[in-house]
Amino acid sequence: MAETKKIATIGGDGIGPEVVAQGVRILEAVAGRFGHDLDLVHLDLGADRFLRDGTTFPEETKAMIENECDAVLLGALGDPRVPSMEHARDILFGLRFGLDLYCNFRPVHCIHDRLMPLRDRSASDCQISVFRENTEGLYVGVGGNFKKGTPDEIAIQESINTRKGVERVIVAAFEHAKSIGAKTVHMADKHNALPQGHGLWLRTFREIAERYDGIEAKHVFVDALCLFLIQDPSQFEVIVTCNLFGDIVTDLGAALQGGMGMSASGNVHPGKVSMFEPVHGSAPPLAGKDIANPFATILSAGMMLTHLGLEGEELLTNAVRGAIADGECTTDVGGQLGTVAAGDAILRRIEAS
Ligand code: IPM
Ligand code: MN
Repeated sequence: MAETKKIATIGGDGIGPEVVAQGVRILEAVAGRFGHDLDLVHLDLGADRFLRDGTTFPEETKAMIENECDAVLLGALGDPRVPSMEHARDILFGLRFGLDLYCNFRPVHCIHDRLMPLRDRSASDCQISVFRENTEGLYVGVGGNFKKGTPDEIAIQESINTRKGVERVIVAAFEHAKSIGAKTVHMADKHNALPQGHGLWLRTFREIAERYDGIEAKHVFVDALCLFLIQDPSQFEVIVTCNLFGDIVTDLGAALQGGMGMSASGNVHPGKVSMFEPVHGSAPPLAGKDIANPFATILSAGMMLTHLGLEGEELLTNAVRGAIADGECTTDVGGQLGTVAAGDAILRRIEAS
């Protein structure tokens, strides 16, 4: 008997529930195909729940995930009915910070030539692994507002960079580079303008690089990185950067993958319960119309299987690639299908494999 893996699923807001519903169907099919024993538990969290009873991310839910689950599949958070984004921060950062998921692994892989937007480039030119620090930086919420709402208002938002936090994500990037046989790791920062925080990044990067013979440690300023990614993405294999820059650079990266509907991610702490989610947001204007692209969620579910030590990611990636090649996909990536029909296209490929 296969060991049971318990997976919490959170649809969240906007298109989140629709894409997660497809992710769940696909996971069930893959489990059937390979004999995995998955116990998928749906958690009712998001704007609807918050507006109904004020719940965001209860301690007991966090404890249940930490103690009983093996992974989390999340859709998206953000709803115009909650302009403060209070519930979204509590849930998303409750998972990222609460479970100490320090490594936001975002593969910027273009999976088919048809999706490559750059002239004279092919999908093989964009196969980059981005490691975004996920527990520190400008995201920690340290700061405050003084004289709020007055003409004299002062807003302070601190960027926290710890030696431990910077080191562990840089190590993860180098370990990944080693595991895939990459020859380079780029670290993107702004130490020219931010010498304290990003000076720490640069010093740590140089020090860690010493331990990895045969992998060249290259520095790039993040603004220049945005330029180089468009000019020639093939020069990058592995990129490591801070929380905010990783957020921005991976949206740019998504454009090189065919759009936000194609970019997957894992919020990972090696060896611990980790969370997988599409990089796109909740896209409220697209919600409830059966038009959202479920492929980023399906690819994220594939990453989750690998993290759990289970087979299936390659099959899923190939199924998505095949569907893209045949135009069996949603309109954002050149097809004519709705969300559910795009899920069906993947299911058929799993069944036929
Ligand atoms: C992402 C999102 C989030 C982030 C938002 C919703 C807070 O943009 O996962 O990339 O900035 O991390
Ligand atoms: Mn983002």
